[in-house]
Amino acid sequence: MTVRHLLRDDDLSPAEQAAVLDLAATMKRDRFGHRPLAGPSGPRSVALLFDKPSLRTRVSFEVGVAELGGHPLVIDSRSTHFGRGETLGDAARVLSRYVAAIVLRTFGDDRLAEVAAGATVPVMNGLTDGFHPCQLLADLLTVREWCGGTASRTLAYLGDTTNNMAHSYLLAGVTAGMAVRVAGPDGFAPDPAVVTRAGEIAAGTGGSVRLLRDPVEAVTGADVVATDAWTSMGQEGQEGQERDRGAALSAYQVNEKLLAYAAPQVAVLHCLPAHRGEEITDQVLDGPHSAVFDQAENRLPAQKALLTWLLSTGGAR
Ligand code: CP
Repeated sequence: MTVRHLLRDDDLSPAEQAAVLDLAATMKRDRFGHRPLAGPSGPRSVALLFDKPSLRTRVSFEVGVAELGGHPLVIDSRSTHFGRGETLGDAARVLSRYVAAIVLRTFGDDRLAEVAAGATVPVMNGLTDGFHPCQLLADLLTVREWCGGTASRTLAYLGDTTNNMAHSYLLAGVTAGMAVRVAGPDGFAPDPAVVTRAGEIAAGTGGSVRLLRDPVEAVTGADVVATDAWTSMGQEGQEGQERDRGAALSAYQVNEKLLAYAAPQVAVLHCLPAHRGEEITDQVLDGPHSAVFDQAENRLPAQKALLTWLLSTGGAR
C-alpha cells in the first residue's frame, strides 16, 4: 500500500476530500463508535511533534487519537535531538518503527517535506508557514453544516493574504468547489504558485479564485467570511512591524458594518486564537453569525477522519 501524507491541501483530490469530510460527519454523529487504532493486540500510537505552541491542534489530535482507541505521544521538539544535529529524515525513519502516523507542526514546509521523505507512515501537517490543511478540513465541515454544502458557495478571506490560512483557503476551498475571494492590501499577495495551482483545481471543480483589494467587494454576497490573526506565529515581537501591519490591515477588520454586505445567513470563520478588536470584533466573534466555536469543535472529527482515512486502504493511490 502506498503511504499517503497530508502536507498541503491539494494532496487530497476533490473526491478524496469529500470522502474525508463524509467520514468526519459520520464520526461526529457517533463520536465514540469508531476505534480503528485499538488494533487486535493493543493500541497503535501516533506521534504529535510540535516546534511551535498549540492549543486546538494539540488537544484535538491528542483526544482524537485516544477516542480512536490509539495512544497519542505529544512530543515537544525542544526535548528531542532535532535542534542538535539529528536530521528530521533520520528522526522520521526511527519514529516510523514505533508509530502508525506522525503529525508535525513546524516552521518551513521544507522541514515537513524532510519528515515525509524519511517516514514510512502517513505524515500530517499540523501547521507550517505555508499551509494549515487539517484546519481547512474542520472549516469545510463547518461550511457544510452552516451552508448545507460547499459547492458554489462563496468564501471571502480577509486580512493577511500572505499567510498559511490564505493559501489553504485557496487550495482547499476550490477543491470543495467554492468561489474563493482573497482580499488584502498592497504588499500582501499570496504565493503566486499557490494561486496558479488553485486556478488549475478550480477549472475541474467549478470553483473560482479572485484576488481583491476592496474588502466590501470581497464580502458582498459572501456565504462565508473568514479571517485570521494579522501577525502569524514566528512574526510576533517585532513591535514596529506589528504596528505597520495593523495599520495596513485595519480596513480588513471583520466587523458588523462590513458583515452587513455579506449574504443574510453568512457564517463567520476564524481558526483561533483571535486577537479581539484587531482582525475581528467581539460583536462578530460572539454574534449570531459566528461559526467559530463549531469550527474549533470540528477539528476533532475532521482529524479523526483524516487519520482513519490515511491509515485505511482508501488512503492508498
Ligand atoms: N487554529 C489552530 O491551529 O490553533 P492552535 O494554534 O491552538 O493549534
